[in-house]
Amino acid sequence: MAKVSVVVLGVGSVGRAFLARLARWAPSCHAELALVALADSSAVLFAPSGLPRELWPAIVDHKAAGKPLSSWPGAQPVAELGQLIGKLQPPFVVVDLTASQESLPLLLAACERGAGLVLANKRPLCARYEAWHALNANGLLRYEATVGAGLPVIRLLQYLQAAGETIRRVEAALSGTLGYIFSRVDEGLAFSAAVREAHRAGYTEPDPRDDLGGMDVARKALIIARTLGLGLELADIAVEALYPLRMGSLSVPEFLSAAAELDSTVGRKAALVHGSGRRLRYLATITPEGATVGLREVEPSSPFAALSGPDNLVLVEAGSFPTPIRLAGPGAGPEVTAAAILADLLDLACALQSHS
Ligand SMILES: NC(=O)c1ccc[n+]([C@@H]2O[C@H](COP(=O)([O-])OP(=O)(O)OC[C@H]3O[C@@H](n4cnc5c(N)ncnc54)[C@H](OP(=O)(O)O)[C@@H]3O)[C@@H](O)[C@H]2O)c1
Repeated sequence: MAKVSVVVLGVGSVGRAFLARLARWAPSCHAELALVALADSSAVLFAPSGLPRELWPAIVDHKAAGKPLSSWPGAQPVAELGQLIGKLQPPFVVVDLTASQESLPLLLAACERGAGLVLANKRPLCARYEAWHALNANGLLRYEATVGAGLPVIRLLQYLQAAGETIRRVEAALSGTLGYIFSRVDEGLAFSAAVREAHRAGYTEPDPRDDLGGMDVARKALIIARTLGLGLELADIAVEALYPLRMGSLSVPEFLSAAAELDSTVGRKAALVHGSGRRLRYLATITPEGATVGLREVEPSSPFAALSGPDNLVLVEAGSFPTPIRLAGPGAGPEVTAAAILADLLDLACALQSHS
């Protein structure tokens, strides 16, 4: 059985959790894996026969201490990554744990050479539809971690389709950050105060507008839509941002201090909805007609009304199921995300080894 070479791009919070999990798990793995390349934005560590496992914890500690891979002995410039991957013989898998758009050409080139791909990075999957098509061409693309982190959302949708079910509608709360903020608003906090609190606690992106703008949810909605066979582009998704365009040019501190003006728009809407017993939630809706992302007023009886804190909730309406299928739980966090990535990698490694 040929060893499967593994290339990992990204050693951030998810990359480190993944490496730690791989180190714990790999000895009992049926598939034979060799971690041949590991890259951050500065450099790549490359060893065609595999980076020794004893070194992995030290590399993780090095990155956790905020040091770049370029300061690790023997590191090569990250610009050489494409060329190094070009030297690999199949079977190999590229695991993209960056948040970068730049990895797409490298992923496409690897895919053309028969590589498997495992993605936690949503951006390559949200590029133009032809790229999605090309990434899927050899049937060796896995991307469970991109939607709902460790929740098996993509597997559920693929399983239902493989079973011949027609999926009529997917409705989902896919932002842990917005879930947290609206839960705090339910508890009586002003919207702007909830945003500031989430920012202080590190629950938002460094710039909270990255969450409030809705694009992260829109990317997840696009990935769901494409998984269902819809040939949509990101621009086809109607996205409701929770701040006006003119606040886009402020610095982060300026935005946070100006956020009080959102209490008269989003905050006021939440208070009105709350007064009528309903709740305000930020949801993605995907149907065969298209996808939308934005604020919804949900009835007290809706499972979305009961949702509190950062958990995700996905409801799927499918052919023979009389009530929606529900999937709920943590939709972010390095550990649960790493679990989905490892499951995808092992699934691919087994598929690749059985063909080699
Ligand atoms: N965090 C979660 O709970 C979660 C859940 C689901 C999915 N995800 C997705 O998982 C991905 C990683 O998340 P994260 O939280 O680990 O992000 P992060 O901490 O920002 O780490 C990103 C990593 O990618 C590296 N990188 C950036 N550009 C690169 C390039 N061109 N080539 C190679 N490496 C590059 C960065 O290098 P430096 O270290 O040099 O900056 C860093 O190591 C993101 O796409 C995110 O959306 C995250």
